[in-house]
Amino acid sequence: MKVLVTGGAGFIGSHTVDLLLKKGYKVKVLDLLQPRVHPYGKPKYLSSEVEFIQGDVSDKAVLEKAMEGVEGIFHLAAYQDYMTDFSNFIRVNTFSTALIFEIIVEKKLDIKKIVLASSQSIYGEGKYNCKTHGVQYPDSRIIKQLESSDWEIYCPVAGCKEYMKSVLIDEAVTNPFTAYGISKEALERLAVKLGKRYSIPTVSMRYSIVQGPRNSFFNAYSGVCRIFTLRLINNKPPVIYEDGKQLRDYVHVLDVARANVLAFESSQADYEAFNVGGEKGTDLLEYTKILISVLNKKIEPLIPGYYRYGDTRHTVSISEKLKKLSWKNEHSLEDIFRDYIKWVYEQPDLKDRYQEIEEVMKKQNVLRKATNLVKK
Ligand SMILES: NC(=O)c1ccc[n+]([C@@H]2O[C@H](COP(=O)([O-])OP(=O)(O)OC[C@H]3O[C@@H](n4cnc5c(N)ncnc54)[C@H](O)[C@@H]3O)[C@@H](O)[C@H]2O)c1
Repeated sequence: MKVLVTGGAGFIGSHTVDLLLKKGYKVKVLDLLQPRVHPYGKPKYLSSEVEFIQGDVSDKAVLEKAMEGVEGIFHLAAYQDYMTDFSNFIRVNTFSTALIFEIIVEKKLDIKKIVLASSQSIYGEGKYNCKTHGVQYPDSRIIKQLESSDWEIYCPVAGCKEYMKSVLIDEAVTNPFTAYGISKEALERLAVKLGKRYSIPTVSMRYSIVQGPRNSFFNAYSGVCRIFTLRLINNKPPVIYEDGKQLRDYVHVLDVARANVLAFESSQADYEAFNVGGEKGTDLLEYTKILISVLNKKIEPLIPGYYRYGDTRHTVSISEKLKKLSWKNEHSLEDIFRDYIKWVYEQPDLKDRYQEIEEVMKKQNVLRKATNLVKK
């Protein structure tokens, strides 16, 4: 079977391509080689076995050409920065998904299945439990709260002043608050509704933080792992925001590639959405400690009281639904670091650029310093 992987030159895309080739699929890749992700052009790791088309997934003529002769699609190309050009998230992520269906219907293409990259960001601030009011899906924290280093989430029920406890996020409720998250929620809806209408099975994959080799040095997503690793390699302390107790889950890119192909091959996955997350939640202090120990450094992180406006507090997905399709995490956080660090050392430029990034974020007023510390 010949399949198309949009964004196939990227991090998750290229590992998915490799697995597909290994399994005997013929693979076409459509990728813009977005300069912010690929400043040196087409990456060397992209297999010579793929039929490569450089172009924009939201350009109908280009997409039409890419979809010629394929029976399956992995739609992984995306705009995914922390920028304020909100329309680009919709154009690249959502509009392109609608275009895929438009082309299928117009050209009467025989597409057997579409797997789409979604994201944990569609859960927004995540899922919490208030001991008085039960399960809540809160909005993001307000600046006034963050300014006083009051990091945890309050119950949103009027009059309730309780902090809530974060709980693992299942697939049931979405509540995105960024243009990126909204673009992904919308593409999921298009995929399910149009997929059902035209009998084209679709599956949406809601990845948590994916890490591992080939994660672009320049992509906003590679943030914490790249920045901390480069700081430490250059014998400088990583800078932790808030109090370092924020929880996240991290998943190895090879586990994600397996999840993508499994979803494509399993009819039980049709028209469903799946979390693809890490084995468990890890707070940033623990994450940094493990990274420091894998790198064998004796450096303590800095916690200067900065916060990034728009960051979520605790977001940890649970992937039980995907596990029912016989998927599991085969790689630990230590494996992620080992594989990532090995790859980092193969890169030409290991300069630590944290200071530059910090200045840009401060100028944009994204990175701020808390002032009035809450006594707890
Ligand atoms: N990496 C993560 O932690 C993570 C988490 C959640 C969701 N995702 C999603 O997974 C998918 C893959 O992400 P990734 O981490 O591999 O990112 P990546 O940036 O490494 O890969 C994305 C690829 O898409 C290409 N691309 C961007 N805009 C394009 C366009 N307009 N037309 C064609 N190609 C274009 C880029 O050149 C790049 O090669 C994305 O849809 C992303 O939103 C990633």
